[in-house]
Amino acid sequence: LVDDHLPESTTPNGSVRQLPQTIIIGVRKGGTRALLEMLSLHPDVAAAENEVHFFDWEEHYRHGLGWYLSQMPLSSPHQLTVEKTPAYFTSPKVPARVHSMNPAIRLLLILRDPSERVLSDYTQVFYNHVQKRKPYPSIEEVLVRDGHLNVDYKALNRSLYHVHMENWLRFFPLGHIHIVDGDQLIRDPFPEIQKVERFLKLAPQIHASNFYFNKTKGFYCLRDSGRDRCLHESKGRAHPHVDPKLLHKLHEYFHEPNKKFFELVGRTFDWH
Ligand code: A3P
Repeated sequence: LVDDHLPESTTPNGSVRQLPQTIIIGVRKGGTRALLEMLSLHPDVAAAENEVHFFDWEEHYRHGLGWYLSQMPLSSPHQLTVEKTPAYFTSPKVPARVHSMNPAIRLLLILRDPSERVLSDYTQVFYNHVQKRKPYPSIEEVLVRDGHLNVDYKALNRSLYHVHMENWLRFFPLGHIHIVDGDQLIRDPFPEIQKVERFLKLAPQIHASNFYFNKTKGFYCLRDSGRDRCLHESKGRAHPHVDPKLLHKLHEYFHEPNKKFFELVGRTFDWH
């Protein structure tokens, strides 16, 4: 707790570690890594490479802000520091904790079609098991119980965006939370990134030429100082085939929650 009141720590060459002025709070599988990498194209942005899990993991949070600061990248004083931990959005304790660090912080939230997000969530956990050579149930087995949609499947809850958003809006005004359309970021990233630049009051320094569509990957990749790179192969994986009737049930399940979410944020999204 020694550093608890230090806004930044300086190193001999003048670079500093700063608490984040913006955080990508989620949502898990929304496109958080793509957003962080794309935002990092900006020269005035310094991003923490790993997910920090400060506000949601007790074993980290109890170390205090000094520890959090030590997890931040070195930056120039004029740069904005950003970290992303997708689990923050759906962790009920986190909004109050972020608010107590900085009530004026600007937050970034990237969302995608909630049903698609469920399939992406399932795919991630499925591959985690495959890697460890452990069995994992099929998508039907996790989604259906006694002939009905299994509403206890955790991934469904994470896609109930209005529930989680309400927790955040108890602590932050809507104007301080910028929602990135994750489906749009996949289809055409540049306009979405321009909106983020404006929200963070960054000079427009990311360009259309920083993005190119890679046919092999099937996604946009990044071009920076002549260097091309795509996201890791774990980003942009094929999702399992789902029986159309079951998919329809999933879409139906999210219909009302989505409406509630649109009302909450005064904006609609092109979701099923
Ligand atoms: P899928 O792998 O299910 O397609 P996160 O980084 O939050 O885990 O999100 C992962 C998702 O980011 C991927 O989910 C993918 O759809 C999305 N994404 C968005 N832009 C991307 C890009 N340019 N390259 C790869 N994946 C991208």
